[in-house]
Amino acid sequence: EREQRERERKRRDREKKRERGDRQFDLWDSDDVPVPRKELLQKVKGVDALVCVLTEKIDAELLDAAGPNLKVLSTMSVGFDHLSLEELKKRGIRVGYTPDVLTDSVAELTVALLLTTSRRLIEATHEAKSGGWGTWRTLWLCGYELANSTVGILGLGRIGVAIAERLKPFKVKKFIYTDVAPRPELASLIDAEYVSMDELASQSDFLTVCCALTPETKDICNKDLFSKMKNTSIFINTSRGGVVDQEDLYEALSSGQIAGAGLDVTVPEPLPTSHPLFTLNNCVILPHIASASYSTRNAMSALAANNLLLGLKGQPMIKELKL
Ligand code: GLV
Ligand code: GLV
Repeated sequence: EREQRERERKRRDREKKRERGDRQFDLWDSDDVPVPRKELLQKVKGVDALVCVLTEKIDAELLDAAGPNLKVLSTMSVGFDHLSLEELKKRGIRVGYTPDVLTDSVAELTVALLLTTSRRLIEATHEAKSGGWGTWRTLWLCGYELANSTVGILGLGRIGVAIAERLKPFKVKKFIYTDVAPRPELASLIDAEYVSMDELASQSDFLTVCCALTPETKDICNKDLFSKMKNTSIFINTSRGGVVDQEDLYEALSSGQIAGAGLDVTVPEPLPTSHPLFTLNNCVILPHIASASYSTRNAMSALAANNLLLGLKGQPMIKELKL
């Protein structure tokens, strides 16, 4: 009861401060729609700090609208492609983000998406309940298995390692990876061999994309890559939609150049329901849910809040982007 009285007192306190125009927190609390840009541009005026999620573009326009008080930005995401790092740096704004706490959740989802795609689970449940299940048939709904396979990782970081650790017990034969340069310390954790982009494409039975979206990685999964992949291979992306040329992917999937794709991320998000990729049985599309477990989202929120508070106090953040 005392706790409840205390909460009530704090709530009245906040309300009084708000009435005095003595703003502390402004919260966008709709869970269904992102804050409209126009409203955000008005509300950021004069703030000292800002928490954002990956649907907000933090660019020169927004930073100008906020004004010179803004010293700390805290994004509740590991990705930072929605932030103009150059503009933030220019203004001396410190940036917190949320790596590590979501690694397990993203790796789990990636494995789930990979198996869903390779063993055609969405098609299978559809067949089972829609009358397509005539009888047990020898080659019906056959897919590809992980045992004895080669798994390729495009962009080896914490998440790529966590995915490989989970796939290893499925008797994967070999892990290979590519990146801008070899990463021997991470690679040794999973016995992964460094290869060229071409070798990654031609050798992988499963190719999973784990890199950040940057100007260098934009559209790197394109016709050129897909044309070198085996037509029995499965492509998985849980990083950012922008690393994939979706028209080229559509072409590769519909022509049978590759066997299937599982995507947790697309361009745009949400992907319009009329998009051609949705017409393909061999493409599984999820609505950007890789970090969506209760415990991970709680940990991400807490980390984003702590980064913000430490930044405001002028102390080192728990996870800070080097600008
Ligand atoms: C999710 O996509 C994230 O960047 O945290
Ligand atoms: C499968 O259920 C089999 O018995 O082979």
